[in-house]
Amino acid sequence: MSQRSNFSSKIGFVLAAAGSAVGLGNIWRFPYLAAQYGGGSFLFVYLILAVTFGFTLMITEIAIGRKTGLSAIGAFKKLDRRFSFLGVFSAIIPIIIFPYYSVIGGWVLKYFSVFVSGNSSKAASDTYFNGFISSTTEPIGWFFLFIAFTAIVVLLGVQKGIETVSKFMMPILVILSVGIAFYGLTVDGAIDGLVYYLKPSLENFSIKTILAAMGQLFYSMSLSMGIMITYGSYLKKDNNLESSVRQIEIFDTGIAFLSGLMIIPCVFAFSGGTTESLNQGPGLMFVTLPKMFTSMPMGNIIGTLFFLLVFFAALTSAISLMETIVSIFRDKFHWKRKFTCGLVTVITLLMGIPSSLGFGPWAHIKFIGLSILDTFDFISNNVLMPILAFFTCIFVGFIIKPKTISDEVKIGNPKFKGEKLFSIMIKWIAPICLIAILISSILNTLGIIVL
Ligand code: PFF
Repeated sequence: MSQRSNFSSKIGFVLAAAGSAVGLGNIWRFPYLAAQYGGGSFLFVYLILAVTFGFTLMITEIAIGRKTGLSAIGAFKKLDRRFSFLGVFSAIIPIIIFPYYSVIGGWVLKYFSVFVSGNSSKAASDTYFNGFISSTTEPIGWFFLFIAFTAIVVLLGVQKGIETVSKFMMPILVILSVGIAFYGLTVDGAIDGLVYYLKPSLENFSIKTILAAMGQLFYSMSLSMGIMITYGSYLKKDNNLESSVRQIEIFDTGIAFLSGLMIIPCVFAFSGGTTESLNQGPGLMFVTLPKMFTSMPMGNIIGTLFFLLVFFAALTSAISLMETIVSIFRDKFHWKRKFTCGLVTVITLLMGIPSSLGFGPWAHIKFIGLSILDTFDFISNNVLMPILAFFTCIFVGFIIKPKTISDEVKIGNPKFKGEKLFSIMIKWIAPICLIAILISSILNTLGIIVL
């Protein structure tokens, strides 16, 4: 994206932003959190947060980008020099996420290779996944390959081609997921899982449900990391921001919902829905889906296609993460593009290796009880993003004032329906909740309070 305002149509913008937003966060992360943190209660809290917090923060970020025509670092500086630190802060987050994101991208590639080579039954065994992630070199090899794909696309500047491919892939992913979810629901025991996933209950609810849902919201919608500011900076003034944001949210949440529908009933059908099976964390998708694929007709082909589509969803998100990091470095140091891509690749490889080893030879290394990958995930989603979101709310609510954002939204959409909600959220509700969430999240993780 070398020129500003290059989204010629509204749907082009929505699809590009959705391409960045829809990724492993929806397909891999959302289901394992929903399984672990209360099923229907998690889903309920997530949906409420999406239409309130998610809406407020996304419209703010896109409007800031469009108003200033700049990416995060320049945008905050232009609005108020004293708040330039917010831009710098938001730049750190993708640098933390990208390496471990690519480790998981490597797992997806591995499973694609297993299915394409006709070995799906091996992948369905209980020990297969752990055997794979706990080995030393193999996951690192797949992680390198995932980074190589991403880096080649960014280096050759063929993002547009990939985006075009993924525009076809996304609808196929939706159709396939619906089909898989339907099939899954016909397996004995799956209905219990469906009830667990859809029915909120106080019994399954705790503060952790809110903490997990909040972190997931930031992650999944690519919020609080400068990315939506950058997308906004390429947007034309006549674009209806409010409806664009709604559409991106519907896309993103829809895919996450479907992924949960595919995976959680399956945990009940194939692994009994025990607490242990629901609390598997990052491995949930990789352990559960192969069991279903091997039980269904043409499961090998369906599994191959599924992991290929997930790979594309992950790749488009990884490309936008890497693009963001490359442009941060280039804006700051004015390095050549090729050199910067190379440097970012090397840094990412070095930072990702510990996350991968943390499931194998370095499994004894824990920070506050978390594996290395989970630690990076926790720091970015549960600490840095809420802090940044808090300061962004204060900045918009009390320094530049919500009206600045509303006025920007109204340029392309004189009837900003959510204006009232936006104003109250950004000034009061969001910052108060964010601080409460942040403090309880840290105290809880440090074991000071058990929620
Ligand atoms: N939102 C993406 C996902 O859910 O997989 C992750 C992501 C992509 C975060 C791009 C940040 C980003 F810049």
